[in-house]
Amino acid sequence: MGLLILGIDTSCDDTSVSVVDVEKERFTVVSNIVSSQAEVHKKFGGIVPEIASRKHIEVILPLFMQALDDANIRIDDIDVISVCKGPGLIGSLIVGCSFAKSISYVKKIPLVSVNHLEGHLFSSFPVEKVEFPFLGLIVSGGHTTIVRVDAPLRYRELGKTRDDAAGEAFDKVAKLLGLGYPGGPVIDELSKKGDREKFRFTRPYLPDTFDFSFSGLKTAVLNLVKSMDSDDLKENIPDIVASFQSTVIDVLLKKVQWALKKEGLKRLMVSGGVAANSELRNRFKELSEEMDIELHIPPPRYCTDNAVMISVAGYFYYREKMFSGIDLNPVAYLSLS
Ligand code: KG4
Ligand code: ZN
Repeated sequence: MGLLILGIDTSCDDTSVSVVDVEKERFTVVSNIVSSQAEVHKKFGGIVPEIASRKHIEVILPLFMQALDDANIRIDDIDVISVCKGPGLIGSLIVGCSFAKSISYVKKIPLVSVNHLEGHLFSSFPVEKVEFPFLGLIVSGGHTTIVRVDAPLRYRELGKTRDDAAGEAFDKVAKLLGLGYPGGPVIDELSKKGDREKFRFTRPYLPDTFDFSFSGLKTAVLNLVKSMDSDDLKENIPDIVASFQSTVIDVLLKKVQWALKKEGLKRLMVSGGVAANSELRNRFKELSEEMDIELHIPPPRYCTDNAVMISVAGYFYYREKMFSGIDLNPVAYLSLS
């Protein structure tokens, strides 16, 4: 057994606890538990922060015990605790950070804290070797960010969303079509039956910047929906969502292509919940072949929020001896650079 890192993520509506074994910079997942609150928030059509915090409190201890059980270890076997300190919902983050600090204090286990986005950037490390530098595209419910990663802890943000994140746009479009929450997986499935050329939405490319903007696209879908009667709408839902999904992917592809060229990079990591999308995965694979670049997209279970990525990112802080103390406070807004 190498270095055992306990990972904890409670940044949004998933409570995740993992144990990762690190040996010679190779990451082996020993246990990985993700408890989704999607069912709870579904009836509200989105996340209710107060409820999310309370749910984290209810499940964090049993999940931690289960993670140790699954790994067949005891708490004293843990060498390092890595916790996500932000960005995210502050009430949710407080639960994970307080829990991590308590165990660290009582059991005298070193504590490190990481940015949730760093986690996404390292989310495919347990399944494949990734060299540096690389361009990272993080597409999740809260973020759409392009970042240059020169080494662990050395990041330069090139662009991010100015309004809705890509995943947020999926969730909002699903909501306005009455498709439930979260919207990404439903739209992904329905789009397979739809015609992505049927409705031509304007591509929000925003010239001369790596920033994104998806709120206008959401409004364009809303206006289209309002212009249809209910029978028309029912019939067209697969085509609407397929056209919407392709629009988002076209923009992501174009920006990434520009960024790779401008930065002279030949390696790309795409991660975050939206990277679980099947059309996105196929089209990025095509792009990588066209541009002859090395592409890394984690398997879907590591695209969406998980604590494995928090364990992995935490290793690099441990390696640099950048520890956190009992005074660690989570932060709702936290950038990478
Ligand atoms: O990374 P993640 O689990 O949480 C955040 O850090 O935000 O991402 C969640 C987002 C949600 O907006 C969800 O709708 C989206 O990822 N998502 C997808 C798919 N699976 C999850 N979007 C498109 N296609 C999917 N298959
Ligand atoms: Zn995330």
